[in-house]
Amino acid sequence: MTELAGFEGLQEQMVSWRRHLHRHPEVSFHESRTAAFVATHLQEWGIEVREHVGGHGVIGIIRGDRPGPVVMLRADMDALPIQDEKDCEYRSTVDGAMHACGHDGHTAMLLGTARYFAQHRHELAGEIRCLFQPAEELLPGGALQVIKDGALDGVDAIYGIHLWTPLPKGTAASCEGAMMAAADDFYIDIHGKGGHGGMPQHTNDTVVAGAALVMQLQSVVSRSIDPLQPGVLTIGTIQGGAAQNVIAERCQLSGTVRTFDEHTRALMKERLHTLTEQITAAYNTTSEIKYIMGYPPVVNDKEEAARFFREATSIFGAEQVQETPKIMPAEDFAYYLQQLPGCFMFVGAGNPDKGASFPHHHPKFDFDEDVMLGGVQLFIAMATSFAREYLHKHE
Ligand code: NI
Repeated sequence: MTELAGFEGLQEQMVSWRRHLHRHPEVSFHESRTAAFVATHLQEWGIEVREHVGGHGVIGIIRGDRPGPVVMLRADMDALPIQDEKDCEYRSTVDGAMHACGHDGHTAMLLGTARYFAQHRHELAGEIRCLFQPAEELLPGGALQVIKDGALDGVDAIYGIHLWTPLPKGTAASCEGAMMAAADDFYIDIHGKGGHGGMPQHTNDTVVAGAALVMQLQSVVSRSIDPLQPGVLTIGTIQGGAAQNVIAERCQLSGTVRTFDEHTRALMKERLHTLTEQITAAYNTTSEIKYIMGYPPVVNDKEEAARFFREATSIFGAEQVQETPKIMPAEDFAYYLQQLPGCFMFVGAGNPDKGASFPHHHPKFDFDEDVMLGGVQLFIAMATSFAREYLHKHE
């Protein structure tokens, strides 16, 4: 990528910020030093800083010389409880913690974007708020707390970027509507009456009840939800009994539900509860359900997704911009999109020549640092395009 005006030296700086963060990862809800690192840099550039937003969140506020909309750009800052198995000079120095999802790169890109806007205030209409969010990787996630803290007050639109190694460097992707799944987990505990394996008439067998339930739960996706709406219900574990000749008094199941819209999500939850209660009751057993709602689906605004395709095409080239298929991992950026128009975007970061070919959350995960500049350009393009259109509409 060519050196652009206003970006002089930025690539080298972003690499050094990213490597610093990579060496010193902090897991979800513990990002205090990362937050201080971010705040110090923002203040250095004369940016107004709000700290301790929803925990360790930091917001950098850059006000333009002219009035206009408020655009929020978001990066997540947290690392994962994974042992770094890379062999490179910037590998993690913290035992059992690692930036294995690229959030160090997100933080570096948003710092780069903040530096750019700080230097270009005179061209800026409205306000840019750079949100450095904590705790994306761990439920209940940092986004909800950030929202409760009023971070979105007065914001007109929000954009987020995830570096994405399954896509090659030089590409970008997003889509209109649902992009990433809602991921909910459940735990079912069936209680019955154990006894002698040869005398079932004196027992209420929880293994038989559990087995029936596993089969019936398969009907939720095949018979209850709209066939045009994707949904997955997986039973991941089933545990019951301790000996081959004893009828089990307890059987436990756990699983996960993935959906892309709130109606299907609610329906899956309701059907799971109904089937569990009624089937276990039919076998004279009782059940308890723990249903843990994860992040909602990431749903991109139609107009903002269209903006992504326009802006990304001019930065990356038409051939390099893709419509991403829906993917099953979840993201707490979803909560922002429930309240504001916006778009979540992937910037391709895979490059086997640089060892950046491992999936996200892998102990050898790495990404091609050269792609960060494209991410900065995308942030800038989305924000300025939104402001331009907003001013046009409000003239
Ligand atoms: Ni991530």
